[in-house]
Amino acid sequence: MSRSVFAVVTAAGSGSRLGHDMPKALVQLAGVPLVRRAVDGIRDAGADGVVVTAPPSHLSEFEKMFVAEPEVAVVPGGSIRQDSVYNGLLEIPRLAKQIGKELDDRTPVLIHDAARCLTPERAIRDVIEALEGGLRAVIPVVPVTDTQKVVEPVPASSKIEKVIGQVDRAQLRGVQTPQGFHWETAMRAHEAGRELLAKGVELTDDAGLVEALGEDVHVTPGSALSMKITTKLDLIVAGAILARPDQYQSLLDE
Ligand code: CTP
Ligand code: MG
Repeated sequence: MSRSVFAVVTAAGSGSRLGHDMPKALVQLAGVPLVRRAVDGIRDAGADGVVVTAPPSHLSEFEKMFVAEPEVAVVPGGSIRQDSVYNGLLEIPRLAKQIGKELDDRTPVLIHDAARCLTPERAIRDVIEALEGGLRAVIPVVPVTDTQKVVEPVPASSKIEKVIGQVDRAQLRGVQTPQGFHWETAMRAHEAGRELLAKGVELTDDAGLVEALGEDVHVTPGSALSMKITTKLDLIVAGAILARPDQYQSLLDE
């Protein structure tokens, strides 16, 4: 019998850069809210139970969306993403019990942004398979296409910065979600992350918390379709992709 898989879908952000009058995860893409797409995507790829982190101000709307699905739990998020993920992780043992699925130290747990709602099943399954193969922390990545420079501020200007170096683009990767961890690793990294936060150290992704423990993180191929919907342009691009099934398919096949 294959192992259970759990997921936390982070959807508690406000979407300030998108600029809608509702939380970003409730914004519709081709008639379907981003969070609905993300939860369906991760369940289709193999997650048995999903915890959604919702903005406390809109908890009941999220609860209503998933009321008919016992495999989906909704919890209030925190003020930063790391807090939201932690709240989501804490709910997993209860959800596992409720749906009768096993949870042990090596159970794969995926942490996925609702904003990456077009992530293809292949990219998610690659992470799950790597975790089932024994790796404890696995993240999907894509090559970086722009040349990358290191800059520093020019004191006289708020606009102009000065180049002080270049990094080798071939070594760089853009990081996506779902980031996957064995359950024990996810919890231990996030417990340590709370101590880092208390010291004023904030890391921008979950794998960073594992790296801070000095433990290995491995990468699998991400996808152009896993782009994070952040700005108005991103939402327009995502809508255009869905409106052209042939082009959508060609991106899926990449
Ligand atoms: N998120 C969360 N809890 C927070 C902040 C963010 O669960 N306190 C989630 C978002 O809902 C999103 C994911 O983390 O799915 C990635 O964050 P981001 O793309 O930055 O979304 P927002 O924070 O909503 O957007 P913005 O930064 O533009 O306000
Ligand atoms: Mg944000």
